[in-house]
Amino acid sequence: MNKLKFGLIGCGKIAMRHANLLAKGEVPGATLQGVCDLNRERADAFAAEYGVTPFYDPAEMAGSGQIDALTVLTPSGLHAENVVKIAPFGKPIVVEKPMALKLEDADRVIEACDRHGVRLFIVKQNRFNAPIVALRRAIDEGRFGRMVLGTVRVRWCRRQDYYDEAPWRGTWENDGGVLANQASHHVDMLVWMMGEVESVFARASTALAQIEAEDTAVVTLKFKNGALGIIEATTATRPRDLEGSLSVLGEKGSVVVGGFAMNELVSWEFAPQIDSDQTVFDEHGHNPKHPYGYAHKCYYDHVVDCINNDKRQLVDGLGGRKSLELISAIYESIETGREIPIRFTPKRCRLGRPSNTP
Ligand SMILES: NC(=O)c1ccc[n+]([C@@H]2O[C@H](COP(=O)([O-])OP(=O)(O)OC[C@H]3O[C@@H](n4cnc5c(N)ncnc54)[C@H](O)[C@@H]3O)[C@@H](O)[C@H]2O)c1
Repeated sequence: MNKLKFGLIGCGKIAMRHANLLAKGEVPGATLQGVCDLNRERADAFAAEYGVTPFYDPAEMAGSGQIDALTVLTPSGLHAENVVKIAPFGKPIVVEKPMALKLEDADRVIEACDRHGVRLFIVKQNRFNAPIVALRRAIDEGRFGRMVLGTVRVRWCRRQDYYDEAPWRGTWENDGGVLANQASHHVDMLVWMMGEVESVFARASTALAQIEAEDTAVVTLKFKNGALGIIEATTATRPRDLEGSLSVLGEKGSVVVGGFAMNELVSWEFAPQIDSDQTVFDEHGHNPKHPYGYAHKCYYDHVVDCINNDKRQLVDGLGGRKSLELISAIYESIETGREIPIRFTPKRCRLGRPSNTP
């Protein structure tokens, strides 16, 4: 079968991981064909490094006969306008997380893709982590019984130079803080494991970074199934990253996935036990080593499989919107000091809005 020829929109930090996987034959069903950046020098340098065609306008690349599928890797607040621009070309679109920062933008993205018959894929690569796959299977098999408590903890170190590297980082309009950026993976994972959320209550601070949004937040959640949840997220951990972890506790078992990015199994306890519990650490204990990102590689394999074999994607536009709705509700709680039920309509949530918005 012919390889799908991808074009990347945005030649920044995360684009290197995507380009390395696609250009270096790590994804058997796909290859890198073009790269696009509004910054011409960046596009030219990236294209030269990977031996592909540079473009300077997303629509021009999307319309090119050379390109079969597109990946949007621009600052988060610009994802929606880029997807809406390229959707009319009818090609599959992969969007880095978060899919958008405002719910109305997420709706515009979904509507544009539906109108033009476009397959939309939102990147949530950690769902392919080896221990996470095992945990999700245990949940599907009903091994936890009634869910009791789910906790995610993001204790990462992002110094001022990280925020100063690009003007959009840490701004309300184009990024948000630790909740919308770094911890959005963990928030998504908590809900994927624990189920629908009934309400949230949150507090946040900007402890160490000089940014508009928060670098530290704590959230309590009530799930519709009666379980409780906790999110603890900060980029103000010093002097280095400590953990990115998820714990799921149910009436018949407890699992902790830790490491820096929910990629190492820490505890796997069930009563009663089954045979496969004895080998779970050997088989799913940690992500296999990979030079350019094991989980992103698995993610692209999944995208190719869905496109070639007409399969349902793990996270589509509605799935991405659901995560964004929860993050928006958390920001609404931070601004109002109140518990926020879900569904809700944002009134005070600042995510995706210019900083001078009243
Ligand atoms: N899945 C993950 O683990 C992960 C990790 C890091 C970043 N991300 C996401 O990837 C996105 C990009 O992050 P980054 O750190 O690479 O940003 P970055 O600032 O390093 O790069 C963004 C690039 O996009 C370009 N750009 C801006 N507007 C454009 C447009 N309209 N058309 C073409 N190019 C445009 C900029 O010139 C820049 O080169 C963010 O949404 C971020 O949340 C995801």
